[in-house]
Amino acid sequence: QQPLSVAMIGYGTVGRGVAQLLHEQAELYTQRTGRAITLAKVLVRDTAKALAAGGIDESLLTNDADEFFATDAEVVIEVAGGIDPVGGFVRRALEAGKHVITANKSLLAKDGPALFALARQHNVSIAFEASIGGGIPCVTALTAGLMANEISGLFGILNGTCNYILTQMTQHGESYADALQGAKEKGYAEADETLDVSGADAAQKLAVLASLAYGVNIGEDDVPCHGIDTLDLDDVRFGDELGFDIKLIASAERWPGQPYIALNTAPCFIPKAEQLAQVHGSFNALSVVGHAVGHTMFYGRGAGQGPTASAIVSDLLNVACGAYPLAFANLQLTPDLHDPAPLVEP
Ligand code: NAP
Ligand code: HSE
Repeated sequence: QQPLSVAMIGYGTVGRGVAQLLHEQAELYTQRTGRAITLAKVLVRDTAKALAAGGIDESLLTNDADEFFATDAEVVIEVAGGIDPVGGFVRRALEAGKHVITANKSLLAKDGPALFALARQHNVSIAFEASIGGGIPCVTALTAGLMANEISGLFGILNGTCNYILTQMTQHGESYADALQGAKEKGYAEADETLDVSGADAAQKLAVLASLAYGVNIGEDDVPCHGIDTLDLDDVRFGDELGFDIKLIASAERWPGQPYIALNTAPCFIPKAEQLAQVHGSFNALSVVGHAVGHTMFYGRGAGQGPTASAIVSDLLNVACGAYPLAFANLQLTPDLHDPAPLVEP
């Protein structure tokens, strides 16, 4: 078979992890897919910074989008983040007939349905396992493994940075500011960490998951959102004395026979004996409740270089095997959340 040529936008925490996996596991991946995978070009803003980070040949780097798109790559991996100009790059890749693999939940929560439609129109796939739950294959679980189910609810811990901060405050008495600094140093936080601590990142992930679960176009603005940025050690100690840990919980529920979907992201007191209270550090956990399967739970590292690169490269290997587009790529999301009936609880 022909080698699979890949181009990548971004060479930060996640991009470096992807390049490292592709280099170190080249033989295994060829064995698994039957195709050699080659990294053809990497687009960044600052090529000198990327070169200094190591692990990449200078000839692969460019800061020129036109040069990047002139590359004859079948797949574009987007690990840069943000809406503008990166959303335009993703559209350009799809319109050029390239498969896209992205970790960008901000973009998906804003423009997911339009991007899915564009991918369908050009007969390519857009895969985004890495955008939710880091290394946990929860998107695949929801859209493939649990496809037989009506989903009554999904809930859990979807932001590794917040969970790391809360764990450090609870178990080590660290201040909020020191714990946030630790999350940044470990590569868990977004480039703009206010997205994490305000709850916006978890709300974006919930919007994408709930859209997939309910077949409705749910955007970030539809999710009521409170973060952890107003908490301090007194809140943690108060909960502890009463037998609770604080966790940032994102939840979506649609009960049988009810027309609305209840969505929320907020810090919650969780009894210490509950499973969710045992989720520590950068780990995430997502519960999905299906009418046939009952309660399922997915758990693992929700942020950081290795876990996120694992999800990106797994999507890539599936593309290399021709396993995408997934069945849900044919899902037509209802364009308006409030049509035909009000779907968000007033
Ligand atoms: P990062 O360390 O800040 O790296 C971002 C990379 O993208 C840098 O190489 C940056 O280049 C490049 N970039 C940004 N804007 C660009 C633009 N307009 N044109 C070209 N290159 C651009 O970020 P990260 O932590 O790797 O995260 C990347 C994406 O993965 C984000 O969407 C994030 O939400 C998502 N994600 C991250 C994690 C995680 O644990 N870190 C987990 C899941 C998903 P310069 O340095 O030259 O500016
Ligand atoms: N900043 C995100 C988090 C990265 O901490 O969960 C993973 O999406």
